[in-house]
Amino acid sequence: MAKIFSGVQPTSIPTLGNYLGAMRNFVKLQDGNDCIYCIVDEHAITVPQDPSEIQKNIRNLAALYLAMGIDPKRSILFIQSEVPCHAQLGWIMQCVSYMGELERMTQFKDKSKGKAAVSAGLLTYPPLMAADILLYNTELVPVGADQKQHLELTRDLAERFNNKYGDVFTIPEPYIPPVGARIMSLAEPTKKMSKSDTNRKATIFTLDSEKDIIKKIKSATTDAEASIRYDRENKPGISNLLDIFSLCSGRTVDELVAAYESKGYGAFKTDVAEAVVSALKPIQDRYRNLIESSELDEVLDEGAEKAYAIARKTLKKAEKALGIGRSGKL
Ligand code: TYM
Repeated sequence: MAKIFSGVQPTSIPTLGNYLGAMRNFVKLQDGNDCIYCIVDEHAITVPQDPSEIQKNIRNLAALYLAMGIDPKRSILFIQSEVPCHAQLGWIMQCVSYMGELERMTQFKDKSKGKAAVSAGLLTYPPLMAADILLYNTELVPVGADQKQHLELTRDLAERFNNKYGDVFTIPEPYIPPVGARIMSLAEPTKKMSKSDTNRKATIFTLDSEKDIIKKIKSATTDAEASIRYDRENKPGISNLLDIFSLCSGRTVDELVAAYESKGYGAFKTDVAEAVVSALKPIQDRYRNLIESSELDEVLDEGAEKAYAIARKTLKKAEKALGIGRSGKL
């Protein structure tokens, strides 16, 4: 039984990458573990967001968490900004962080590159993420490969704090799946599939229509070789489609290569698209029933309450260790 925490930003509809790399593992990990999942809206505002859009995306993400299989009887689901301890411990973790290490984060470098004005929040994003994780005495954090560096920083900050002020935080481990940790763009398969890609053919969103999914997969960039084998370096497009096919169908990559070796790319892509549509269809059906329901608000209210009860204890422990506030005053 491990304590699990993870989060997703409500910056758009989750992508197929979010689902295959992270969210489907959130669902699986519910068996036998204590799970807490978060809609990290405070992270989302590190870059400008349209208020009505983010409001919609928060609700969509909550419904999708449930539609994908997060069971509120077993797991806590809540919105980050509804539990003030995140911003509070986030501040403390900022004070434990060094500018140099934050400036070295790849995500900060990528997102700030070429921008005239960058918010301070973009730089201090990782200490807030560390706070998210540390508030719940988390042991395991299921994420895609792009979050590995942030997890390493979380561990460093927790160890630094513990060494200086006493044992307050549990040191978390990342859980990065062997397949699916890095689903690539369909248009440029050497780049990560991303919510913010401006090329509309690059990314499948979990609420895309069957027609759009088929169109995007049919137009996925491959190569001129016309042979189906797994080779991430020389055949990134086909290898990415094999990963997606494998995760959506439950068949291993080796099985798929054996079955499609002698078939053309056209037939292969048709079957990849069908597997993706079949994997997403039940989620989309459940989503449609949930999005207008009052169940969603009940789950989020209860989630915030339960999360707060755990988080405030860790926050108080950290404040006490630092000597801030009045000791013993909750
Ligand atoms: P976010 O919202 O960008 O992505 C949510 C999760 O999806 C994974 N992911 C992918 N996995 C495989 N292939 C892809 N192409 C792909 N794109 C995204 C991400 O690795 C992530 O696990 N910083 C986090 C949110 C966060 C968080 C946390 C996560 C805030 N606090 C505490 C864990 C614990 C982020 O931006 O995720």
